Amino acid sequence: MPNQNILTRMEGHVGIVQLNRPKAYNALSLLLMQELMDALAVYDSDPIVGCMVITGNEKAFAAGADIKFMAGATKPADMLGSPFIEQWSRLAKIKKPVIAAVSGFALGGGCELAMACDMIVASESARFGQPEINLGLIPGAGGTQRMTLAVGKALAMEMILNNRHLSAEEARHFGLVNRVSSVASFLDDAIALAGEIAVRAPVAIRLAKEAINAVYEMPLHSGLALERNLFAMLFSTEDQKEGMDAFINKRNAHWQGK
Ligand code: CAA
Repeated sequence: MPNQNILTRMEGHVGIVQLNRPKAYNALSLLLMQELMDALAVYDSDPIVGCMVITGNEKAFAAGADIKFMAGATKPADMLGSPFIEQWSRLAKIKKPVIAAVSGFALGGGCELAMACDMIVASESARFGQPEINLGLIPGAGGTQRMTLAVGKALAMEMILNNRHLSAEEARHFGLVNRVSSVASFLDDAIALAGEIAVRAPVAIRLAKEAINAVYEMPLHSGLALERNLFAMLFSTEDQKEGMDAFINKRNAHWQGK
């Protein structure tokens, strides 16, 4: 069945998913989340794809989880048992890098979706916020954790308890965002960054992503042990031999992904 809430396309080795519910500021409905995660999973298993970009439109990356959908929930089981919440954990299983290209509103679940990606390229108009407190809620898809790790406790408290938003420049300053571009060029810039990463040594890219993300899951000694093992494992790949031979013989490397 064709997708109803997303558009997908390829540019070179980059798989691009555009959230496409513009009338609802790309509110993250169950169907949108299913279509998004399905599309990412397809790109993740496609050997042509080296990196992915998730974007919205100029006015909104996403204004959060679909409030009209959630308003029907009246007890914890309605949320805990819902396939809606499960969709969020599917992003963590994607092995290739994912870049969020954010313009306009990135609020609530939209901000959490961007933070669950590996990098963020923002337009000058991007606004990051966790306004769930206005609904009598708290963030439910990682906001209290990822925002605090990114910007620190003091600012995260202000954002989540008092709906303080971050401008694109503030988000870059605090390390939430990699770079800020104009509204006209943010998507092209995100795709260009993704394109550069997409043609690098594929196995090393995946293991580097795994090791960096382990910072959020493990104490330092376990993370260091994981890094050491992944580093050693790469010496069994053809790409490691190719990369070192290319360096020594002053030529460009040709990666096989093996
Ligand atoms: N869910 C469902 N619909 C939404 C939505 C959302 N998160 N955000 C916007 N919309 C819909 C509006 O209902 C409206 O639809 P109708 O035209 O059918 O009434 C349409 O988008 C346009 O919205 P507004 O009229 O409100 O537009 P605005 O320009 O005045 O304001 C906005 C824009 C500031 C983004 C405002 O829409 C807003 O505050 N949205 C909600 C943001 C929010 O609270 N997000 C958190 C959701 S909870 C969550 O995400 C939980 C979690 O952690 C997983």
